[in-house]
Amino acid sequence: MTNTKSNAMWGGRFAAGPDAIMEAINASIGFDRRMARQDIAGSRAHAAMLAQQGIVNVTDIEAIREGLLTVLSEIETGEFAFSTALEDIHMNVEARLRDIIGDAAGRLHTARSRNDQVATDFKLWVRDQMDAAMTGLQALMQALLGQAEAGADWVMPGFTHLQTAQPVTWGHHMLAYVEMFGRDLSRFQDARARMNESPLGAAALAGTSFPIDRDMTAKALGFDRPAANSLDAVSDRDFALEFLSSATICAMHLSRFAEELVIWSSAQFRFVTISDRFSTGSSIMPQKKNPDAAELIRAKIGRILGANIALLTVMKGLPLTYSKDMQEDKEQVFDAADTLMLALAAMTGMVGDMTANRDSLEAAASSGFSTATDLADWLVRTLDMPFRDAHHVTGALVKLAEDAGCDLPDLTLAQMHTVESRITKAVYEVLGVHNSVASRISYGGTAPVQVRAQIARWKERLT
Ligand code: ARG
Repeated sequence: MTNTKSNAMWGGRFAAGPDAIMEAINASIGFDRRMARQDIAGSRAHAAMLAQQGIVNVTDIEAIREGLLTVLSEIETGEFAFSTALEDIHMNVEARLRDIIGDAAGRLHTARSRNDQVATDFKLWVRDQMDAAMTGLQALMQALLGQAEAGADWVMPGFTHLQTAQPVTWGHHMLAYVEMFGRDLSRFQDARARMNESPLGAAALAGTSFPIDRDMTAKALGFDRPAANSLDAVSDRDFALEFLSSATICAMHLSRFAEELVIWSSAQFRFVTISDRFSTGSSIMPQKKNPDAAELIRAKIGRILGANIALLTVMKGLPLTYSKDMQEDKEQVFDAADTLMLALAAMTGMVGDMTANRDSLEAAASSGFSTATDLADWLVRTLDMPFRDAHHVTGALVKLAEDAGCDLPDLTLAQMHTVESRITKAVYEVLGVHNSVASRISYGGTAPVQVRAQIARWKERLT
C-alpha cells in the first residue's frame, strides 16, 4: 500500500483519496440534472429581471438568455457533458454558459444564491408533478366512472370484515373509489395552491441589497406571488412533503383497490377478469393468469411512504436556514413521483380494460344471507317489532336456513312460522337482492337511482 493519496482505512475501495470521497458524497448532479429545464427557466426569468431593473446591462443579459437556451437544447439532445466536479445542475449550467458566451455569464448570479435557486427549481419540478398527478387521477376517475355506468344496477356482495354483509351495486362500489381519488385530487389542488409562492430573490437567506423585482420573476415562473420571508423561502420544503403525503394517501387508496382486484380476479371469486394486457402467465402452471400489475400497485406505497418518512426525517431538527442535508430531498421525491405516475397509469389501464362478471357478482350477492338486514327491517316495518327483537328473530331464521343448507329466500313460510307466526308471504319481496339494493335510496346509498345521480354529479365535476 504505497498510495499516499488514498486513505488507509478505505483507500482500497476508492481509486483516489478523500477528495474523491468528498466529491462523491457532495455532488448531486447525478440526480438533480432532472431539474435542468426548471433551472434554466428560473435563470432566464432572473436574468430578464436583472436587465429590467438596470442591475445588469441589456447586452450581457441578451447573451445570457440566448446562451441558456443553447445549454437547454444541449441537455435535451443529450450532448451535454455533466461534470461531477461541478457538483450540481446549477453550477453545471453556469459553467457551460461561460464556455458559450464568455465572461458575461458571471453576471447571472448577481442578487441570487444557489439557495433560492434550488428552492425555486425544486418547487417548479414538484409543481409539475402535482399537475401530472391531478391529470392522472382524473383519467383514473373517468375509467372508474365508465365501470360504474356500465354496472350501475349490477348486484354484488358488500363486505365488512371481508364477510358478506349486504348486497350493494357494482356502480356504488366503483364510486366509492371515485370519492377516494377525488379527495386525492383535491389534496394535490390544495397543496399546489399553498406552495405556489416564489423563493427566487430570497438570495442566500437574507434577501439582497440590489433593487430586484420579485413580483416580476414570480409572475414569469407562474407563481402567484413571491414568498414573504427570505429565511423561510430558502429553508422550506413543505411543498415536497405535502406532495409526498398526498402521494402516500393516494398510493394507499391504489393499494386497497389493487388488493380488491387481486381477490376479485381469483378463481374463488371470479368477480372480474383482468385483461391479458395487464396480466402475466406462469412459467410452470399453464392455467395461471396472474394479476401482477395489481400486485405491484398494491406494493408501491412502500416506496412512496418510505420517501415521505425519509424526507420528514431529513427535515426534522434542521436549524434555519439552508443546510446541505436538504440536498437529500430530491431523490426521494423523484422516485416517489415516478412511482405514483406509473401506478396511476397502470391502474387506469387495468380499470379501463377490466370486465366485471355480472353473473358471478349476483350469485355471490345472493348467498351468505346478505338480505338478513332487509328481513329485520321488514319485521320492524310490518310487524312493528323493536329493531333489537327483529334482529333476534332474523338471527333465528338465518340459523334455520343454515341448518337446512339453504338461503333465506328458500325457506318456506311454514318453516318461518316456527320462529315467528306473523310473517306473511310478502316477506319474500325483501329477500331478493335486487329489491334489497333498490330499497336503499337514502342519500349516498347503494340504490341504482342514487348511483346514477352520483355518476352524473361526478361527470359534471370532472369536465
Ligand atoms: N445541490 C444543492 C442542493 O440540492 C444546491 C444548493 C447548494 N447550496 C449551498 N449553499 N451549498 O441543495
